[in-house]
Amino acid sequence: MMDALGRPQSLLLLGGTSDIGLAIVARYLDGRPLRVVLAARDSPRLKEAVARLAGRGAVVEVVEFDAAEPQTHAAALGQCFARRDIDMAIVAFGLLPDQRAAMDDPAIAVQTASVNFTGAVSVGVILAREMRAQGHGVIIALSSVAGERPRQANFLYGSAKAGMSAFYDGLADSLIGTGVRVVVVRAGFVRSRMTAHLPAPPLAGTPERAAAAITQAVWRGRAVVWTPRSARVLAGVIRVLPRGVLRRIPF
Ligand SMILES: NC(=O)c1ccc[n+]([C@@H]2O[C@H](COP(=O)([O-])OP(=O)(O)OC[C@H]3O[C@@H](n4cnc5c(N)ncnc54)[C@H](OP(=O)(O)O)[C@@H]3O)[C@@H](O)[C@H]2O)c1
Repeated sequence: MMDALGRPQSLLLLGGTSDIGLAIVARYLDGRPLRVVLAARDSPRLKEAVARLAGRGAVVEVVEFDAAEPQTHAAALGQCFARRDIDMAIVAFGLLPDQRAAMDDPAIAVQTASVNFTGAVSVGVILAREMRAQGHGVIIALSSVAGERPRQANFLYGSAKAGMSAFYDGLADSLIGTGVRVVVVRAGFVRSRMTAHLPAPPLAGTPERAAAAITQAVWRGRAVVWTPRSARVLAGVIRVLPRGVLRRIPF
């Protein structure tokens, strides 16, 4: 169960090496006992995350997880819920491909849709079922402003994130009264491993600032959070731009 300050005692990070996800975990750790389950593909980065969290006092478990293999999700997530309740699950996996490369290679395009949309739907259905059964829980879905109105430079990623946002908004409404809550994060540009190769815009956020906004939204019982705050303004503008103007935006 969440403690009196609205913090989880057990947390599942799907995409266990995500910079934003790990920044959220770090905020909840803060010198208190926390069970953290990292659901991820095996990698040196995963081992590093395990060592870092354990070094800060977390009880860390690892579950093998590939977002692009939905047929394995029920068993993988089943392991996470088998031993104890999960108070919070963060859906943090995602892929931001080079759009041009993806449009030349259907395999990249399909992988992008599979991870960002199909994988997110698959775990969302399972998390909702498991959390409804335990009678409580918070699901944090890391979606993107790119999904508010896909632009030509990133409509592949944007269309999958649009689907993800729509799914988790609907899931949130469907879970009212069950004790399970969903927070949909509409993130703008955050400097993380995902965006490290891109020029950062002036108002780019950091994983730590995103984590602060997200944990505050959980505490306040919000269903949606925009981070950085400028993302909301940006989305408002992009949504009303005439299509002919939007088409000319090069980024
Ligand atoms: N950074 C931004 O500007 C931004 C903006 C809006 C939304 N978001 C969203 O926020 C989430 C977290 O991104 P981040 O910024 O923290 O980037 P990140 O550090 O690169 O995290 C992405 C995560 O996705 C995982 N992943 C990718 N494909 C996977 C697969 N097939 N199976 C399992 N895990 C997989 C990666 O795991 P590996 O280590 O195994 O590759 C990594 O843990 C993503 O959904 C992203 O779309 C980010």
